[in-house]
Amino acid sequence: MAEIGGAAIRELAKTYGTPLYVYDESTMDSILSAYRDNFVSDQFETGVLYASKAFSCKAMVRLIDSYGLYLDVVSGGELYTAVQAGYDPGKIFFHGNNKTEAELRCALEQGVGTVIVDNQSEARLLVNLIQETAGSVHTLLRVNPGIEAHTHKYIVTAHVDSKFGISLLNEDEIVETIRILEAQDGITFDGIHSHIGSQIFDRQAFAEEIRKLFTFAEHMKETYEIGIHTVNLGGGFAVRYTAADAPIPIDEVSRFIIEECERENRNHHGLIQRVLIEPGRSIVGEAGVTIYSVGSIKKTPNRRYAFVDGGMSDNIRPALYQAEYDAFVDGKEEGASLDYTIAGKCCESGDILIQSIPLPEMEPGDLLVLKTTGAYGYSMASHYNKLPLPAVVFVKNGTARVVIRRETYEHMISLED
Ligand code: LLP
Repeated sequence: MAEIGGAAIRELAKTYGTPLYVYDESTMDSILSAYRDNFVSDQFETGVLYASKAFSCKAMVRLIDSYGLYLDVVSGGELYTAVQAGYDPGKIFFHGNNKTEAELRCALEQGVGTVIVDNQSEARLLVNLIQETAGSVHTLLRVNPGIEAHTHKYIVTAHVDSKFGISLLNEDEIVETIRILEAQDGITFDGIHSHIGSQIFDRQAFAEEIRKLFTFAEHMKETYEIGIHTVNLGGGFAVRYTAADAPIPIDEVSRFIIEECERENRNHHGLIQRVLIEPGRSIVGEAGVTIYSVGSIKKTPNRRYAFVDGGMSDNIRPALYQAEYDAFVDGKEEGASLDYTIAGKCCESGDILIQSIPLPEMEPGDLLVLKTTGAYGYSMASHYNKLPLPAVVFVKNGTARVVIRRETYEHMISLED
């Protein structure tokens, strides 16, 4: 029988039911330590922000806090979760291409440390709110360096027509926006942010981003006397979904980025005083699995289906991005001899979790474990077909604890009249 974090899969399924998201806390511990210990420099300050969109809940926020990491939130909901978890709002970076007035107001009231401004109209809105509330906040401006990291097109956030940030080609608008921020008492302009995509395997994409941003910072200083002291490079570090994926280990990619930044900074007269990164997927992705119960098995002329008790409602990624996953059957880890299609229970032909995977012969009641579901699984889950959201369990040294309870039918209709 297989285990996760020292806990038997069969016991987890029996105790908490399926589908069940299970996170091995030790895996997250080692990744968080790798970031904390390797993303350091003696030439500038460094900071790692957890992009909580990958998986946000109070227990996750507390884990991040225990490693002294910063937090990136992209909505009032993620902000609320962080604050409810007791996280220091001063260490929060607030992202988003269309933060609402209510969200920004709430961020200022809560004392959020940094707002990452996406565009000029948001800069104006922030100025108005600061005047009204007499608050204070740090800001970074999100720019788009136009680098296309090789990734699925829905996940690319820095191509030239991206909805995120202001293109470096649009220099006038960048300068104007920074001037708006700089002119306002209570707003401190710290520097720039960019995020070039997700699930990036190629370290050269980061090197290119660093080169562009540092060069741009110097250009801003020389030409406009604008001081860019912080550079936030975003997230996007890849994880291993299947054997075909070979992500750069976290300690290595951290040191690589630091070395590139140190070299660029020497080339640019030590202009940059703080470098930030914003990993999401790489902190939680591989730590998480989903346990499903196998229901019906069905043979069609060309396929052998195994149906599971969840599907696109708890993992939209295969349907949305053609994402691929690996899986195993608990207690039958050996002897993969049949080609299966793993399909969910939703009324949608696209509800296929794995198109084709060799697995041992399955029967109803078997437990199928989908690997690397820790990022953008729960956080993108839906109630399609009115399926309640599964529970989430953290496991460490054989001990499991529920961090998000399973929804009930009552929860789902609790807001209905
Ligand atoms: N920072 C910013 C500004 C971002 O937009 C993102 C992700 C991150 C950090 C974290 O990126 P990560 O390290 O997790 O790759 N739902 C998609 C991923 C969307 C990512 C959006 N932005 C998926 O399931 O693959």
